Amino acid sequence: MSQPPHPWWKSATVYQIYPSSFLDANGDGTGDLAGIIAKLDYLKDLGVDVLWLSPIYRSPLADMGYDISDYEDIDSRYGTLEDWDRLLEGAHARGMKLMMDLVVNHTSDEHAWFTASKTSKNDPKRDWYIWRPGKVVDGEELPPNNWKSVFQGSAWERDSATGEYYLHLYVPKQPDLNWDNPVVRSAVWDVMRFWVRRGCDGFRMDVINCISKTDGLPDAPLADHTQYYQPASMYFANGPQVHKYIKQMHAEVLSHHDLITVGETPFTHESSELAAYVLPQNRELNMVFHFELMDIDSPPESPLLSKPWTLRELKAIIGRWQRFMRDDGFWNAVFIENHDHARSVSRFGNDSAQWRAVSAKMLAIFQITQTGTLYVYQGQELGLKNFPRTWEIEEYKDVASQNYWNLIKEQRQQAQGKEDVEMSDLLDSFAQKARDHARTPMQWNASPHGGFTTGTPWMRVNDDYREWNAEQQIGDEASVHAFWKRALKVRKAHDTLIYGDFVMLLETHEQVFAYTRNYGSTSALVLLNFKEGKVEVDLGEVIGGVAGYTFVLGNYENKAIGLGEKVTLKDYEGRVYVREALLN
Ligand code: GLC
Repeated sequence: MSQPPHPWWKSATVYQIYPSSFLDANGDGTGDLAGIIAKLDYLKDLGVDVLWLSPIYRSPLADMGYDISDYEDIDSRYGTLEDWDRLLEGAHARGMKLMMDLVVNHTSDEHAWFTASKTSKNDPKRDWYIWRPGKVVDGEELPPNNWKSVFQGSAWERDSATGEYYLHLYVPKQPDLNWDNPVVRSAVWDVMRFWVRRGCDGFRMDVINCISKTDGLPDAPLADHTQYYQPASMYFANGPQVHKYIKQMHAEVLSHHDLITVGETPFTHESSELAAYVLPQNRELNMVFHFELMDIDSPPESPLLSKPWTLRELKAIIGRWQRFMRDDGFWNAVFIENHDHARSVSRFGNDSAQWRAVSAKMLAIFQITQTGTLYVYQGQELGLKNFPRTWEIEEYKDVASQNYWNLIKEQRQQAQGKEDVEMSDLLDSFAQKARDHARTPMQWNASPHGGFTTGTPWMRVNDDYREWNAEQQIGDEASVHAFWKRALKVRKAHDTLIYGDFVMLLETHEQVFAYTRNYGSTSALVLLNFKEGKVEVDLGEVIGGVAGYTFVLGNYENKAIGLGEKVTLKDYEGRVYVREALLN
């Protein structure tokens, strides 16, 4: 059966680099562009097609570069524009592409646009940000509304120069741009054109579904009785003009180039809300990152806390998105790790010494057998795991961790009327969920600091670097790294894994996730045991015969395992079989 041609970005494997923690070439303790350039062969050899760089623009690093003070320059910690050109050239020379992180819901408060905006109410850039007078209640001045910042406290900051407040959905050093102002939108298109002209191949768009806020900025409903400030995403996520603005971005910039685009769309579990960003006839983005899977183990209070999850919940989420509006052209972004989430082997696998490698490989199979563009986060290919519970709060550098810790500590101090309060339960949660786990330096070899730096690393390297590092794994056929390399090749060799439909088997099974993927005359069968303990499943009941299936990948021994109707999967075992329909 002939299929229409697919755009290149559908079959691409994207590798996310967190530059601060990738490789430090100049010994100042922070990763840099020269470090990335030095590892281009490593990345090519792994089998990735696109590199996505978390922000490297000039920034005071209030939120690790997601607070940009100059969109058209590189922060000196990372290098120069010329280094970036060399990186691009090196990537292109190896047949890889380079994607930038576009952070335009907000800037840094040190961006020239904002420093002008705050000078006076009449400044031409005043309306580039969202300024409002405070509201007076019982003689007391309060922020314009009760919105809570995603990173705690009010989402408004009073500025003494004019006595007005500006909106910041994240920290006060990240003022939100006013996208309702057409001049702001033009300025964003110019930033994008700057990077496209320089040769970048696409954009990951930070919290892009938050750029349009509900008119009148109404107070959020009371959901959290412990404080005045309330979660307000119903008034800033997927707001009234968001599609108009992204369509304009498409018309002005994206439509003129062959780019890869992925929008980060948090605070949204409704698939129908996200469809609009992705469906091709809407001419907006190629795909979005939804967070349904990432939120599976978070209670409503905070993503830094954890709650139990079940395999059935996970299967329901994956099953729904894998099948979602395929005929209409919806396209998924497949990821289980990024810089904002703890390590996948610690969350969805089992990071004990016995099962770490096996379960990390099982999760690799889980990812490479899904339809969508595949994203791998740095260190995932080595099975890197969360750092230990014994690390104290001082090791958590992320502003989200620090602010949440301080908030809870203050609440407890007030409630208990003493300074010294018990916080170990929060450290238990952070040990499972904090963003910091993804941000420890890459573990390149067994030398001090994992070979990441010759200086003092900005963040402590995970304790296990002597045994768990790239040098140790490269060339070891049994390593997680070698497995990822094989797995990415298997995906590339079988279009059915990328484009095929998705049929869930054994839907209610509590331990096994099984599915087929069918494309033209080819079928793939995927069997994943998500738990410790072996399990037998009877395929005879769920697929019409097992004849003709060939083993293509498995996470135990690297040799073919035959398929019978009754299959026994070992602890965390994953297998992939492929069958070509018999032509007659
Ligand atoms: C996105 C980024 C995250 C950042 C936030 C604010 O969610 O991925 O790291 O803190 O936006 O820019």
